[in-house]
Amino acid sequence: MSALPTLTLTTLLLLILAATCYAQDLIQITLPTPGQTITSKTQLDISYTVIGAQTLSPAPVNATYPSSMTAQFEWLAKGTQNDPLALSALGGMNTRHYAAGIQNKEYTNSWNVPNCHFFSRYNPSNYDFRLVFTPVYKTELPGEEQQSDHQQQPIVIPLTVQVNNATYPKC
Ligand SMILES: *[C@@H]1O[C@H](CO)[C@@H](O)[C@H](O)[C@H]1NC(C)=O
Ligand SMILES: *[C@@H]1O[C@H](CO)[C@@H](O)[C@H](O)[C@H]1NC(C)=O
Repeated sequence: MSALPTLTLTTLLLLILAATCYAQDLIQITLPTPGQTITSKTQLDISYTVIGAQTLSPAPVNATYPSSMTAQFEWLAKGTQNDPLALSALGGMNTRHYAAGIQNKEYTNSWNVPNCHFFSRYNPSNYDFRLVFTPVYKTELPGEEQQSDHQQQPIVIPLTVQVNNATYPKC
């Protein structure tokens, strides 16, 4: 029995995985971090990086940057998976990359977390919350090759909500 074929296969699979996942992640959300605690009626800092494709090694052949990005605040009754409720948090977020993609570009933004009335209706003991960042790509021209392989999927950041309810019903 030789461990070699197994190792080779694992390496190969990892390489394939790396190659397929790799080309797509040109946007990274720095803040909020997954699981971060956010507080009702405060300003939440949002920051993200548009990766310069030329800083990656090897640089992807087809670096497809989104033209903008949106952020949705979503909440789901605990124990359910589908049909989250949602409100638009931010739209038209800037995703312009650094000239020729030779370095990363950082962006910051902020969002007003809903107040205690909202979280009394959707109480964190009954709901799970998250921010979903969706890269938006320019619509393909007719006849142009479908490039969806190169497009980054929405980025989901689960959040913990702390409600400042001391002054209820005044929020
Ligand atoms: C780059 O994109 C072009 C046009 O969409 C496609 O024909 C080509 O196969 C892509 N190359 C790679 C390496 O994905
Ligand atoms: C805030 O306090 C009110 C009154 O006690 C209560 O009805 C409501 O559920 C509380 N909200 C949260 C988010 O705990």
